[in-house]
Amino acid sequence: MDHKNKLKHLTKEQKIKLIMGADFWTNYDVDGSVYKFIVSDGPVGLRQPLDRMTAEQTDCIKSVAYPSFQMLSQTWDTGLAFEMGRSLGNDCIEQKVDILLAPGVNIKRLPTNGRNFEYLSEDPFVAGIFARDYIKGVQSMHVGTSLKHFCCNNSEKSRHWASMEVDERTLREIYLRPFEIACEARPWTVMCSYNLVNGMRMSEHEKLYGVLRNEFGFDGLIMSDWWAVKDSESSLNAGLNLEMPYDEEHQKEMLAKSERLDETKLNESVERVLALAEKCERESKLRKVEMSLEERRSVALKIEEEGIVLLKNEGVLPMKKGKAFVTGAPAVNYYFGGGSSNVYSEREFEPLTDALKNEGMNVEYAESVSAVRGHQAILGNLKAAVFKAAQSEYTVICVGEPNTCEYEDADRQQIKLSKEEELAIHALSKASDKLVVVVYAGAAIDMSEWINEVEAIVWAGYGGEYANRAVAEVLTGKVNPSGKLTETFPLSLGDVPSENAYRDEAVMVYSEGMNIGYRYFDTYNVPVLFPFGYGMSYSEFFYGDLAVEKDGAIVKVQFEIENASNVDGKEVAQVYVRELTKEVYRPYKELKAFKKVFIKAHERATMEFALDASAFAYYSVAKDRWVVKPGVFEIIVAANVIEEKLRAKITLKAEE
Ligand code: BGC
Repeated sequence: MDHKNKLKHLTKEQKIKLIMGADFWTNYDVDGSVYKFIVSDGPVGLRQPLDRMTAEQTDCIKSVAYPSFQMLSQTWDTGLAFEMGRSLGNDCIEQKVDILLAPGVNIKRLPTNGRNFEYLSEDPFVAGIFARDYIKGVQSMHVGTSLKHFCCNNSEKSRHWASMEVDERTLREIYLRPFEIACEARPWTVMCSYNLVNGMRMSEHEKLYGVLRNEFGFDGLIMSDWWAVKDSESSLNAGLNLEMPYDEEHQKEMLAKSERLDETKLNESVERVLALAEKCERESKLRKVEMSLEERRSVALKIEEEGIVLLKNEGVLPMKKGKAFVTGAPAVNYYFGGGSSNVYSEREFEPLTDALKNEGMNVEYAESVSAVRGHQAILGNLKAAVFKAAQSEYTVICVGEPNTCEYEDADRQQIKLSKEEELAIHALSKASDKLVVVVYAGAAIDMSEWINEVEAIVWAGYGGEYANRAVAEVLTGKVNPSGKLTETFPLSLGDVPSENAYRDEAVMVYSEGMNIGYRYFDTYNVPVLFPFGYGMSYSEFFYGDLAVEKDGAIVKVQFEIENASNVDGKEVAQVYVRELTKEVYRPYKELKAFKKVFIKAHERATMEFALDASAFAYYSVAKDRWVVKPGVFEIIVAANVIEEKLRAKITLKAEE
């Protein structure tokens, strides 16, 4: 029986139960007559409570632990987003999961957001494209996804009740855009966020659900974030299809007023749930594990190898075979972000010491500082560590933020390392002239306190189960670093306009408008620690021969990159567009295309891009749609948002 027919045979009570979860992770199955689908976190590794009747965050199954979404986007390789999705799809099949509660595409508006490690970028284009290809990967395995958190869940503090006040153009161009792009992959479900947008709770936001359905073409099911529904009837009327998880009180209330409920709305949502259940049942028959555990693990390793960012290198890296003194908590402890995306790796933790030994280094370890809770750490025997540093050719200090600093439901208090870690770096820098700092965290860190005292900095992020292997490979040159940042690292928190915008317990005003991340720093020439798109390599690249031409509605961009070094390497080329004849405000330039390319030593690569109308458009509030205004645009090819390499102008005429 298809869902249309099923609908006719359902009682009011059954219908109501169908639009409300049956427990934490499944739907109501009408006495076994409707397929019971299972949803599960999380984005970078399956997280399922051992007791499926709870939302437990720690007592969970063990799974492949992939690098965080920050690391994924820093690869600038969307093929890896597909691979990660596909790999997770295989994990889901093994665990009998029908829908993976991922990906999250919320924009990194504030460096302090406790969940930044779970999100992809401060740039809507990057966030959207990576999410789109990840969804394609998961769904290629006949497993569903849940694009989340719709929308403007850009901080964790007061996420359950604060309203985000955002102007229409900013909403469209920055905060909705990643959802719009990701919808191209046709996610099976979308999850609404807890917060309110412009005074309306997202679980009741009829207007934005309308945009999702009518403009972004979303034809799946809209579910709530866990307990994001405050009024089940209003949510139903607004177009929310499934309230998660089961809530006894809410269900009682709905059953009590069942006769008053809008039948059309109820039927619409019931049909969506039935359609999803049917889809899950149908697709479940096509599921087959296609990747071995080893293949999935190699995806986790590859993402970390490609996502690590070399931030500073004054000629010390790659390390030559020799003696390295290693210290710091993350060298010997697994670092990851906390909350619903916790992952418990089934692979035994690999300390950096072992990984470096495997690469042929002579390694010694001693504790200097260990992380305890939040931004407080305990200093060990720093004197002894300094002595060892003086005896070694290289000193590697591992620092960062464990899941007691970066986690769901709270924001970071600050973006600096602990005082103790800073102190250890200062002390070691006096003893070592080859001091390498490896940072394990999920969001921007203010390094101003110590950056000038160290010779090299490597961003390891939350690297999943292969973090230290990939770090060792980068440190020793087995892997030539090729990751680049997908978020700006400001000099200090005070420089970030969104951080200074008005907020109280109930309201956050997005007064910086579209000027978030590089759109602000680049437009207003404000210096940063590391710009968006930045990352070093052991190779050296030169750009040249830019040609820009129109081909119908497409603008073709072509240029050459030369690897002028003795080392094979990968470069991430970025194409930005700047409007010179603007009629509305536009940030100085905006990213519209990118590509990562492997170039052998002393060889060249030809880069080709095709920009369509969306690369030149802005959202016109006056016309309620995207428009391309005829005029002059500049195509800017860059290695990062500040390091512009090539420029050319192009004139677009009306109707293009
Ligand atoms: C999170 C979601 C998650 C859900 C289920 C919520 O607290 O915001 O991202 O999928 O819990 O665990």
